Formats: sequence, structure tokens, C-alpha cells
Amino acid sequence: MTQPTHYPSWETLKTHHEDMRDFSLREELARADRFATMSRESCGILFDFSKHLATEETLTHLLALAKEAKVEEMRTKMFAGVKINNTEDRAVLHTACRAPETAEVIVDGENIMPFVHQVLAQMEDFSHAVRSGEHKGYTDEAITDVVNIGIGGSDLGPRFVVEALQEDGSGPKVHFVSNVDGQDIVSVLKKLKPETTLFVIASKTFTTEETMLNAQMAKDWLLKSATTDAIPKHFVALSTNAEGVKNFGISLSNMFPFRDWVGGRYSLWSAIGLSISLAVGFDNFKKLLDGAHEMDQHFQNAEPKDNVPLLMGMLGVWYRNFYNYSSHLLLAYDVRMDKMAKFIQQMDMESNGKAVDRDGHHMSYATGPLIFGEPGTDSQHSFMQWVHQSADVVPVDFVIAKEAHHTLTPNHASLCANFLAQSRALALGQTLEEANGDPSRVFSGNRPSTSIILPKLSPYHLGALIAAYEHKVFVQGVVWGLNSFDQPGVELGKKLAKPIREILEGRAPNAGMDSSTSHLIDVLMPR
Ligand code: F6P
Repeated sequence: MTQPTHYPSWETLKTHHEDMRDFSLREELARADRFATMSRESCGILFDFSKHLATEETLTHLLALAKEAKVEEMRTKMFAGVKINNTEDRAVLHTACRAPETAEVIVDGENIMPFVHQVLAQMEDFSHAVRSGEHKGYTDEAITDVVNIGIGGSDLGPRFVVEALQEDGSGPKVHFVSNVDGQDIVSVLKKLKPETTLFVIASKTFTTEETMLNAQMAKDWLLKSATTDAIPKHFVALSTNAEGVKNFGISLSNMFPFRDWVGGRYSLWSAIGLSISLAVGFDNFKKLLDGAHEMDQHFQNAEPKDNVPLLMGMLGVWYRNFYNYSSHLLLAYDVRMDKMAKFIQQMDMESNGKAVDRDGHHMSYATGPLIFGEPGTDSQHSFMQWVHQSADVVPVDFVIAKEAHHTLTPNHASLCANFLAQSRALALGQTLEEANGDPSRVFSGNRPSTSIILPKLSPYHLGALIAAYEHKVFVQGVVWGLNSFDQPGVELGKKLAKPIREILEGRAPNAGMDSSTSHLIDVLMPR
């Protein structure tokens, strides 16, 4: 496999980066046509790239790099179900979860689309039954609360979307438990009644320690007031592991299946999205899928120069590998999108935080950046000082919905003004003269950002936005020559925790550990 540093356009970009030394966003943004030439639109969402350290020439070179790295070929392979997750020998088909029934996607000789739509129908029926009160608990009362028990991709995607859209729905209240810290489940359960609570156990593998422990705690809690006959009314499973689900005590008729070609961090479109459908209704869940599918179409068919995820991905490569910027900030100016940064953080960092390429060779260049963020305007009163003036530069994505969900017009005007002011301040900075000679108020400017404006935070637009980020991550993974769809680092942590737990529970002697860990075990050992 050719390393990206060996592509001809890598050298061109290095030279171009040197030529950009005197590039000034202040000057560029003074040009009336800058916005028109550097902004794009897809699925009704505006993506303004005009506040980037880039010219049209930069984009041309970046797109040449994408071509040399064979992004288009890999994209075709992914959508067609070729097993591009080479280390796990799996196809990567979260895109099939949002494709129409008429599509044909073959995996191991089987067209998977009938299966996808069969599960969607199962989700639709069940969501309707729960939301209408037709599905009842063991005392014949309707379900008022749903607890999604899962972690990582089996938690963050549904949690982000439910929080973002819940106000559109009228269904049960959906709670999320992810952490193995018992406080997480204890705090949720103390608010609930077993008679009216439905547990959704979300785990692709159905072996993840945190989820299995919390699921067991939930079962014990139910069985304190009910018999095992109540389990089918109060427990459903979302998983690829039928055997594990059965062994846990959930019957297969209460299982919503998916397959190994859906990666955990890309799974909210699959059965893992059941909590979304329960919270906001299946019709809204379907609109989420439709928005994502529309973005899939855009990613597959739009010209490279207009292809939003391709441009997002390549601009990220530009900053990571040529400017050496090591982080990327996500600022959603919308409290409903509180979990966006956390969700994209897992999607991006678990996918592209790698040191070895697809052929197992150590990479000599930087890959995925640190992703962080929290909603504006809160962030303006926490870490934004650092973003404006520290020696480190961090490219930012500003996200906002044009239409508010509330009627507090002054609040929305203030939110929009702050959204615009932050990116403007980062781009233009403030000269000594503008700061009235006060050096502490000088801002270098030239700090890049993308402004993303959704018409409103609707299921359709949210689906399209998430899919754009998924494809951005994909593009970068291809350019860096790595497998974005495995997670060996996470697996190492899981492996090492096992013997330590055995020692802490007195099932094994405190032996074979390093000196620090062994002493810390002594401190934590229950007496
Ligand atoms: O965080 C590591 C990971 O493997 C993720 O990829 C996944 O989303 C999460 O664990 C949960 O896994 P599961 O859905 O199998 O419980």
C-alpha cells in the first residue's frame, strides 16, 4: 500500500503550504466573492468553508490527493459491501441500514436489504405498541419509561439523537445508563417504577462487561417486585449475538437483530436505534434514516469540488498533516445537541486514532486529531479563551439551526450573534491598533472554522449531518491508509481489566502485576 506521503500531490501540498505563509483570512474575507466560491450546500444544510486557510487552489490539490489515495474506489467498495474492514474481515454497511428496500446489497451471496427492512418493520410495530400503550407491563400498566443500557456506540448515538429530537415526540421518557460505576444505574432506577419501565439492552456483542453488569442489575431490580414471567414485558435486546441474548434470559422474539457489518460507532441506524424510535416515534426515526440516505447519495454522486464530506475530510487532512494542528473542536450552538461532540468524538477517534496502516506497517505521519467540544455559548465561558489566544490552533466546526424550537426570539438572536461573532473573531483576530494599543487584547486571527447551518434541527437534517461526519471520517481513514472500522486499543483495555477484577474480587492472588498496579490493587482491595 502506498503511504500518502509518497503521493505526488503530498509534495505539491507541502510546497503550497509554504506558499500560503502570508495567507490572510482578513484579506480573503474582504473579497465579496469569497463566500460564494467557498461555501457548499447539501440536503438543505449550508457548509461555509470560506473561513478556512485555503484557496480554491488548496482544494484542487487536496482533491488530487484524495484521488491518488483512491477515495472514490474505496467508497464504491464500502457501499457495495466489499469487506473493507480487513482486520475483522467484515463489510462496512451502516449505509445499507438507511437504503430503500429496492436497493440490492450483497454480503456473502445474500441480498441483505430484505433483512434490513424486516428489522425496521419489527422496530416500527414495537415502537407503536409501546408508545400507544398497547404493550403493557406485568401489572397491565402502560410503559412510561425506557432505559437504554449500552456503552460506546450502543449508547452515544441513540443518546445524542434522543436528546436532540425528544421534544418532537410524545412517547415514553428515555433514560440512558452506560457507565459501570453503579451510581449511573442507581441514579436512574431510583426515579422509576418497575411496573412501567422497559429495559432496552443494547450491545452488538452482548459480552461487554459494563452493559452485562448493568443489565443484570436491572433484571435483579425488576425481579425484586415481579416474577420471571415479567421479563418478556420489560426486557428487549438489540444485538448480533442471539446465543448471548438467550443465555441472559431474553427470548429471541424480544430481540432486534443486526449483523456484524454494522460497526458499533456507526450503529444508530440499525436495531440500536430502537430507543430513538421509542422516544420520537418510528416516523421520525425513518426521517432520520432518510436524511442520512440523502447524504449518502450526495457523497456518492456529487462532484468532488462540491462534495461536502470529501471537502470536510480533506480540509482535516490539510490541517493535521500540513499545519500540524492536533485537535478539532465541535461547537453546536444548540443545547439539544449537547452530546454531539461526545458522539463524534467516539466516531472519529475510535475510527482514525491509529498508528498502523491497513498492511500492518507503522505510520510515519499523524492521523486522527483529538476531537472535543461542548455547546456554545457555554463553551465561550470555559475553554474558548484558549481557542482564541493560545499558541495551539484548533480548527472549529460551528453548528446551528436557523429555526429555533422555542419562541424566545431575543434568545435566538443572541445565540446566532454569538455563533457568528466567534468564527469572525477567530478568522479576523484583532490588531494592536484595534485593541487601542493593549497587547493583551491582540488576537492573531487566521484561526480556521467551518460554519454549518441547518434549516432546523429536524430528524431529516440531523440524519444528514451525522452521515456527513461519518463520511468525513471515512475519507480521512482512506487517505491515511488505515482501517477505520476496528478498535484494537479498546480491546486491550478490556483484556487487561479481566485479571485485575479477579484479584480485586479475591478469585486470584495479587501476583504477576507491575509494582505500581500491584500496590494500587492493595489500596483498592475491599477489606
Ligand atoms: O468502545 C469499544 C466498543 O467496542 C465500541 O466500538 C462499541 O460501540 C462499544 O464497545 C460497545 O460494544 P457492544 O455494543 O458490543 O456492547
